[in-house]
Amino acid sequence: MTTRWLGHRPIAKVFSNRFLLPQISRRIAPICQTWPCRNLASLNTPAADDTVEILGQRFPRDKNTNVTTTITAKTARLLHRQPNHPINILKRRIEAHFKNYKVVDSMNPAVTTQQNFDSLLFSADHPGRAPTDTYYINSNTVLRTHTSAHQSEVLKTREAEGYLLTADVYRRDEIDVSHYPVFHQMEGLRTFDRKNLEAEAVVNVAGTSIKGAVLSETNPVQLAHTTREAELVDQHLRHSLEGMVRDLFREEKDLEIRWIEAYFPFTSPSWEMEVLYRGSWLELLGCGVIQQKIMDDANNADRVGWAFGLGLERIAMVMFDIPDIRLFWSSDERFLSQFSSGQIVKFQPFSKYPACYKDVSFWCNQGFHDNDFAEIVRDVAGDMAEDVKLIDKFEHPKTKRVSRCFRINYRSMDRTCTNEEVDKIQDEVRRVAATTLGVELR
Ligand code: PHE
Repeated sequence: MTTRWLGHRPIAKVFSNRFLLPQISRRIAPICQTWPCRNLASLNTPAADDTVEILGQRFPRDKNTNVTTTITAKTARLLHRQPNHPINILKRRIEAHFKNYKVVDSMNPAVTTQQNFDSLLFSADHPGRAPTDTYYINSNTVLRTHTSAHQSEVLKTREAEGYLLTADVYRRDEIDVSHYPVFHQMEGLRTFDRKNLEAEAVVNVAGTSIKGAVLSETNPVQLAHTTREAELVDQHLRHSLEGMVRDLFREEKDLEIRWIEAYFPFTSPSWEMEVLYRGSWLELLGCGVIQQKIMDDANNADRVGWAFGLGLERIAMVMFDIPDIRLFWSSDERFLSQFSSGQIVKFQPFSKYPACYKDVSFWCNQGFHDNDFAEIVRDVAGDMAEDVKLIDKFEHPKTKRVSRCFRINYRSMDRTCTNEEVDKIQDEVRRVAATTLGVELR
């Protein structure tokens, strides 16, 4: 499990709103060719090359570099801008709903730690900065972990009252059918003239899911705002999001929505929105009233505003019935040809290829993190790795050393793999774990 850090709630929730783990069934409907397995020889050993290249730009490596070429290669895919791709179809749907919002969708994924964390008021020791969760290009530069990384620069432009910013975001994480190291988020931003707030932000919340006061000890109005200001912005935010989600899920009659208090360093009050979809509560997004300091620092001291961030894969998996997140990366026509611009259709799975489970056990050093192991599996096996689970862990009573056993589920999306072939990959996973993580194989 990864440390979850944006919110006060544990895993699967906030930061990794990751959108928001699957109530999605584990039906797997593999398909073809997503990413080929990596060439085993080209593993991420510190290359002769002492730079990391991202979209043609070179960054010097340093001791904190942990990004691999498996990951940097994905920066060029830009699924959110690929016509007829489910992620693009969903993006356009939401853009069509928020009519006058300015669309931003080509921000560079390499951002400074200032953009990704400091500008958003993350404390210096915030666990979200941990290299176990974040891909560092070097000490000062990361692959953005969320679209909020661009809030300040977008606000600084003062070009519009509202923005919709979509981008690929990167997180080191566990491996399963709803987690992938790259996914897509859409950030919505809306600001108002503070002097004219009553007129600009007032909405009628009668008949919506928005109930109760904004003010609460655990989800406070900022000192910089009056209660009325916070209430107006908060209600406009939730009213807008509720309208958007009802529009997206227009086929679902009487969609039930609920708001869960949340915590983000960059908003207060903050919420997560959940919808009751086919019997389970599904968490769709995080949102809140933007911290006034962020507005002030971004040349918007005269304005107040709200922000939301939603995970497109999470919603697309539900809307298009896509059972495995790896499918979004597929270039197989059997997948791609099923979707066309402007249409929400249910994905028709084709044949399912067999899974192949392999276990690996080892003694770990102190500081070992499950995500470091997951990263090795990703690097060696590519999209052949469907799932990695910690199935056993124990501490030796005398030596106090900890042993872990992981079960890797290998499954190709486009063909049946031979046991021999999987054994080779597994051997390589074992070798790389031993040499790069210093674990002792059992
Ligand atoms: N950036 C947050 C995340 O990735 C989501 C969010 C965006 C929350 C904007 C509040 C406001 O989980």
